[in-house]
Order: sequence, then C-alpha cells, then structure tokens
Amino acid sequence: MTLVIAPTDAALGAVATGVDLGRPVEDAVAAEVRMALCQHGVLAFPDQDMAPEAQVALTRQLGEPEVHVLSDFALEDMPEVFIVSNVRKDGKPVGAINAGQYWHSDLSYTARPTFASMLHAKEVPPGRGETLFASMVRAYETLSDEIKVRIDGCHAVHDYTLAYETVFADNPDRTLTAEQAAEVPPVEHPVVRTQVETGRKAIYVNPGFTRRIVEMDADKSRETLETLFAQATDPSNIYTHHWQVGDFLMWDNRITMHMALSNYAANDVRHLLRTSVTGEIPV
Ligand code: OGA
Ligand code: MN
Repeated sequence: MTLVIAPTDAALGAVATGVDLGRPVEDAVAAEVRMALCQHGVLAFPDQDMAPEAQVALTRQLGEPEVHVLSDFALEDMPEVFIVSNVRKDGKPVGAINAGQYWHSDLSYTARPTFASMLHAKEVPPGRGETLFASMVRAYETLSDEIKVRIDGCHAVHDYTLAYETVFADNPDRTLTAEQAAEVPPVEHPVVRTQVETGRKAIYVNPGFTRRIVEMDADKSRETLETLFAQATDPSNIYTHHWQVGDFLMWDNRITMHMALSNYAANDVRHLLRTSVTGEIPV
C-alpha cells in the first residue's frame, strides 16, 4: 500500500488514498500520514470501512488519545470514542448534538489543546452538513504588517464556558454543569503559535472559545479579534468538506479552525465517530 496525497484547490487540505484504514496501519505509514497532516492541515480519506477499534488504534499511532469532558457522549466501552450525532433515543441525544456549529479549534480552552481530531462518517445527510476549515497559517501570512506587529507576543484567554454563554445560550440539549465547567478553567495561549514540525506561524484564536487578548483593553481586544476572525474566515482561506458515508477526516487543530454547518433537516441523520490526540503546550 502506498499513501497518495493530492492537495485540494483550496487554501488547505488534501485527499489521501492508497491506504485501508480498516486494517492495521504500519508505523511508517502512520508517520507519513502525520507528516501530510501537519503539511496540509486537513486530510480526507474517502470510503474507509473502519471499526471503532481500528480508529482508536490509528489514533494511538498519532499520539495520546483524549477523553472529552462530556463523557455521556462517549461509546460505552471505548471512552476515547466520542459520538457526534443528531440522533435521539427516547428523546435524549445519543451524542454531542449541534457539535462545533461555530468557528473553533478543538479544546483550545485546555492547557494542552488537541493536536489532531478525526471523524469517521457513519451516516450523513446527502449534500448537506458540510464542515468548513480555515487555514490559520495562511490567515497569519496574509495579515497586514500593522496587525502582525500589534499581536506579536500577545496572549489570549480561552474559555469553554464562552460557547455556552453564546452559541448554546438557548439550547437545552447543550448544557454544562458547574462540575464540568470546573474541570475546564480558562487558560491563556499565545495569539500566534508555531507549528513545531514545520516552523510555520499560525493565528491561534477562535470565535468559539477566545474571550479576549490579555495585553489589550476590551475595545482593542474585540477589534483585533474581529480583524483576525475576518481574515481567517475569508472564503479564499477555507476548505469545505462535503461528507460522504465512509469518509475519514483528520485535521491539525494547531493550524486550522473549523465549523460544522447546520443546514440539514431535523429528520436527516448525521452520525459520526470522533477521536482526538492531545497536543503540546502552544508556543
Ligand atoms: C468536532 C466538530 C464538526 C462536525 O467533532 O470537533 O467540531 O462537522 N465537529 O461535526
Ligand atoms: Mn470541533
């Protein structure tokens, strides 16, 4: 088996073929996958027939699997596998419903945020429920010199509860107990981080979890964050993933942010299995 990487026409992302992820992946191939992921930010492996066990095994080859704070939404016998789904059983969501329907980078609100996240599409609404990815490397590179100087050396506060105060404010399916909130206190990270493998700089703030820039007053911080978000979410800076059943998608959260679209009907089924790998302390 030979891994073949074909970059998309967009600012980031590549399609990966030539490997069957349903079978054990050689360490050398896993290392190639890791390198391609760091380079392209997003890798799409179409048409993969993978059991959750195989997904966990590959996840382990890329690093230390994470267990999400919303533990109710994990597979019963595999806490590393988190369910992203709009399916309900007896009225209760079986997984994280409305997951990631706002621009964010996974777990940026923790001290060691996610490196790679992976989703395997089990059932998706045809032609809808896309996931958008922004290149935070290109977003940084295309900033004006004035903004680059302004944010140089700055830090930002990331806080999971921000999403619950804003996007989930009126969503009874998405609540966070005080106990859960206490497990994820706010953290500070550099506004610009460096991808260790390539030395590239990337903007590391996101609308979902970033409250403010520490070194600026409230107005300057808001204005600066809005400028950074606008740069990142410009259409020229985005790859849109159109899901097919069997797609296995992975992304490097250190150099991308993402958002799921909620453009499907209530009775459309969108059900994916998710794993992720812890990253380093951002520098
Ligand atoms: C995630 C997420 C997006 C999607 O799993 O981290 O944001 O498309 N999901 O479901
Ligand atoms: Mn996410």
